[in-house]
Amino acid sequence: MRRRLLSLILIWIFASISSVYSQVRPPQLGRNSVEEVIAAMTTEEKVRLVVGMGFVFPNPSLQTEEDRNTPEKVPGAAGRTHAIPRLGIPSLTFADGPAGVRIKAIRERDTSRTYYATGFPIATLLASSWDTDLVNRVGVAMGSEARDYGIDILLAPGMNIHRNPLGGRNFEYYSEDPLIAGKIAAAFVRGVQSNGVGTSIKHFAANNQEFNRFQSNSIVSERALREIYLKSFEIAVRDSQPWAVMSSYNRINGIAASERSDLLTTILRGEWGFKGIVMSDWWGGTDATLQMQAGNDLLMPGTVVQTQAIIKAVNDGVLSKKTLDQNVAHILNMILQTPSFKGSKYSDQPDLKANADTARQAATEGMVLLKNDSGTLPLTAPGKIALFGNASYDLIAGGTGSGDVNKKYVISLDQGLLNARYTLDESLRKAYLRFIENQKEKRPEVDPFRLPPPIAEMDVETKQLEQLARDADAAILTIGRNSGEFVDRKVDDDFNLTAAEKTLMQNTANAFHAQGKKVVVVLNVGGPIEIGSWRGLVDAVLVAWLPGQEGGNAVVDVLSGKVNPSGRLATTFPMSYSDVPSAKTFPGKELPGVAPSGLNPFGDKPSESTYDEGIYVGYRYYETFGVSPACEFGYGLSYTTFSYGNVKLSSDKFLVVTASVSVTNYGKVPGKEVVQLYVSAPKQGLPKPALELKAFAKTKLLKPGESQTISFTLSPKDLASFDPASSSWIVDPGVYTIKVAASSSRIKSSASMNVAKQVVVQKSQKLLAPTVSLRELSR
Ligand code: BGC
Repeated sequence: MRRRLLSLILIWIFASISSVYSQVRPPQLGRNSVEEVIAAMTTEEKVRLVVGMGFVFPNPSLQTEEDRNTPEKVPGAAGRTHAIPRLGIPSLTFADGPAGVRIKAIRERDTSRTYYATGFPIATLLASSWDTDLVNRVGVAMGSEARDYGIDILLAPGMNIHRNPLGGRNFEYYSEDPLIAGKIAAAFVRGVQSNGVGTSIKHFAANNQEFNRFQSNSIVSERALREIYLKSFEIAVRDSQPWAVMSSYNRINGIAASERSDLLTTILRGEWGFKGIVMSDWWGGTDATLQMQAGNDLLMPGTVVQTQAIIKAVNDGVLSKKTLDQNVAHILNMILQTPSFKGSKYSDQPDLKANADTARQAATEGMVLLKNDSGTLPLTAPGKIALFGNASYDLIAGGTGSGDVNKKYVISLDQGLLNARYTLDESLRKAYLRFIENQKEKRPEVDPFRLPPPIAEMDVETKQLEQLARDADAAILTIGRNSGEFVDRKVDDDFNLTAAEKTLMQNTANAFHAQGKKVVVVLNVGGPIEIGSWRGLVDAVLVAWLPGQEGGNAVVDVLSGKVNPSGRLATTFPMSYSDVPSAKTFPGKELPGVAPSGLNPFGDKPSESTYDEGIYVGYRYYETFGVSPACEFGYGLSYTTFSYGNVKLSSDKFLVVTASVSVTNYGKVPGKEVVQLYVSAPKQGLPKPALELKAFAKTKLLKPGESQTISFTLSPKDLASFDPASSSWIVDPGVYTIKVAASSSRIKSSASMNVAKQVVVQKSQKLLAPTVSLRELSR
């Protein structure tokens, strides 16, 4: 009896203490439920959470003094969120980007050491590997650097579609095809996130140009959105659950992407099952309340104006508490997973050596050999090379803007060749190095975030060329192209060669061919350039892309045959710019009037871009309308040759079918082949492209004579098209041809299967529809 009384007294004392304690100490994130934490938050605290922690640029008065004075945890990171210590909510740190962790390498408060990050190859190169395991490894490496530098979310991958080769940020994106972009992105996301840090896939959606990027309206049909521009994001979300999605700057059919609840909530969360947060692109959108209502949970980098607008909207009853709480809940649930919440210690000592090795290996796997007449490559004997072109000595490792990385070094091609014991013509090398240095000194100061003006090619006299051709064993000429945020590329002197480049190429070819010596062109480019008019002049062409900090070594690994090239184009090289299906409508036109109020730090003008090519983007256009590109989608050579067996289907009646094919290396050196599966749909039903990529795989390194059987399984979702009339994904009945191929036009083996009756794969509703009539290209 006395014992029971004692325990009752103890329980009463304990209950009273915890009740007093909980009045003093509010709910804590992690210890209490997210709902309890939200219930304890004031409106001001909720708004502190949904508005990021400011940025000094472009206008310091856009942030509070308190924010301005809060020291950055990681100098140079792109943004932070507010901490709310009372509730156990930490501040998060976000850093760009697709090619490496973009932070400051030198810290003012700590000059005793450096904080360099690895410069990995650009996204377009990674996609050209067609190797999801490789991209996963790059993600693991990049994510480990993010973790080691105290970052919570990496603002990557960029995964917009290459609608037009002039897109200024195409290098940050993967492909013209949504399947490749989606699968490669998912592999990357899984790799990064395996380190316990997050990713923010971007820029959602239809953000395919830089021209007036804050104000441009992408006018796109529902079908093109679903099948092309949203598809890559859908695959990445379903396959890899990124922690965050970054909404894009542009408008889609009249409304800012960050203000569209059909995009950010109905489709992203409702149809695809996204569980993370949506953050805006930096200063994107114009109306903070609409953004909250749309499900754009976090406004980055956040401004005082937005904070005031949201508080007012809540007080005026314009923004419901329920909506704001939902945004806050998304953010809190995501915070629970972060290193900052878990209090993880970070070393600030990433393994830069191991990651440089990964960067080098990845770079070699994504380079694409476009031409190799009479076995010009590999350059097996380490002979003497006459090395031409500014970019040979000043290699472009990556693009500019937020996709850039503060890396410790870049291996140029001359260094790469010397490292591999090739001999260079030293007088030519010295002349180039001097020339480049002089030109750079003369160049006006440019903001390091922006694209510097290119240096015109050095003039090499015919006499000197003749001497070099007598002396050296071969010539290598590098053509360089850079691009970056804010501006799209141009046709003249960018997509097309400059007059100086043409002259140099012609004269080099004349001089070296007169001596019976070969000329190799290396394309150090972020995207396609015109090659049809000049490739006949030279013996070999290698697309090295923007290969990251180990670029020079990686190019030489391929040129020397240490690595057999296995990259394939994930974006078409058209014959001429005018062949591009969006040539006439890209990047759109400026409209009269002024930009709507709100944030527009770069003074962009209202403009619109009409995607009247519809679903016929890239190879979907070239193959359907019989326009021959210079090098088609999926194309790339190897130093060996592959043969394909007959494709076998598990059934000739479709619902789920497995296609298998055996691939054999019948050449003389080991190599990897990219096996591509395209499907041609029957004529009845919705009009379809001539063929569409539905699956792909890269073989292992096959020894001469070795074979591998590759199998792909197709289900109705893979074959479905979006029918705008019924707002659903459907598979039309009829006979489908499965084509196993080495590129979009090199079909190796085909088989057919029948779909007995229409399959409705998923029903949706009318969303994102254009508000103006759109005359789209059709078959
Ligand atoms: C870019 C984003 C980037 C952000 C933060 C924006 O200008 O569009 O891709 O993540 O800045 O640096």
